[in-house]
Amino acid sequence: MIQINENYSKLASSYLFSTIAQKVSEYTAKNPNAAIIRLGIGDVTLPLSPACLEAFHAGVSELGDEKTFRGYGPEQGYDFLRQDIARNDFLSRGAGIEASDIFVSDGAKCDTGNFQELFARDIKIAVPDPVYPVYVDTNVMAGRTGPFTQDRYEGLIYLDSTEENGFVPRPPKEKADLIYLCFPNNPTGAVATRKQLAEWVDYARSSKALILFDAAYEAFIRDPEIPRSIYEIPGSKEVAVEFRSFSKTAGFTGVRCAFLVIPKECTAFDKAGKAVPLRDLWNRRHTTKFNGVSYPVQKAAAAIYTPEGKKQTREIIDYYLGNAKIIREKLTSLGFTCTGGDNSPYIWVKTGKDSWEFFDMLLSKAQIVTTPGSGFGRCGAGYIRISAFNNREKVTEAMERIAKIM
Ligand code: MLT
Repeated sequence: MIQINENYSKLASSYLFSTIAQKVSEYTAKNPNAAIIRLGIGDVTLPLSPACLEAFHAGVSELGDEKTFRGYGPEQGYDFLRQDIARNDFLSRGAGIEASDIFVSDGAKCDTGNFQELFARDIKIAVPDPVYPVYVDTNVMAGRTGPFTQDRYEGLIYLDSTEENGFVPRPPKEKADLIYLCFPNNPTGAVATRKQLAEWVDYARSSKALILFDAAYEAFIRDPEIPRSIYEIPGSKEVAVEFRSFSKTAGFTGVRCAFLVIPKECTAFDKAGKAVPLRDLWNRRHTTKFNGVSYPVQKAAAAIYTPEGKKQTREIIDYYLGNAKIIREKLTSLGFTCTGGDNSPYIWVKTGKDSWEFFDMLLSKAQIVTTPGSGFGRCGAGYIRISAFNNREKVTEAMERIAKIM
């Protein structure tokens, strides 16, 4: 008898963004003329920058000519892209990351979801609450939790991110082995200071733990004091891996390209306590299960690091940050307490009501899609997340509609 992985039956419900998409399609089926404005899932709307597009086309053309055609590429990514990443994203900020520490992939969602495969089943896991659901769900699937009761999975350490701690949790008293951190944060939009990250690095070093640092939104940081990479913190290379993505940085949500950084110094331990380099372990996993990102996509990604690419990418991000400012200012003027939106594309709004009720109210009365905070965890109850990824006219109109119904 073929048996299922019973851990899947522990999963609370469908994936958050699928549930929202389902609700929105039910609403549009009943209201076919509704002019919906989508500020829910963080999906970009601006087209690729001219620099990326040109490189993308050139990459495709090379594949159409026998002289320049390429088949399988290196699973870890082409060296030209890995070198660009190391030089521009890390060395330029004083973080000594080498091209060989970088693994190019098709998305940070897959990387953050898959990375837990490298670890034993009985490790102790700490996740922020609210949290990007992928970190939790993939560990549930892997059997690292008990059942879901009272909005939480048994066996996980939840790091409450609340108004009181500025949505930046401190290390717990208990000993965690694997810690998920995300800054700028999805969903709260909060950023962590150097001091706050240093405290986490100290914790990981002293408890031989590992930090999985999701920096998918680092390009939105405008405050020069805020670190953009965990590797700006001394001592972090031994205890942290970092996830990055071109999705929100350069409009690649549909193109698919991201990367994972595993410094050669970074280790976990075998049963006997012997240190094992994680880079080697991931390389073994990656070469077995992944055949690389397509050549034209990597060419397009590398174009982000050219002088024109940098300028155009910054303009795109500034545009979304402009939207975020409009959202934050309008909601604040309407009396809501908001976080995020200054160094992040997400605005976390305290609604004073049940999150799903508020979501339904915005959908039915203003035809605006947001994301209910409680979908990210117990501490998200009473909040909604508004995404700044849309065009300026729609964002402005959405704010007018909200003002009208409030
Ligand atoms: C979000 O809206 O949280 C993100 O778009 C999800 C993702 O990047 O997978």
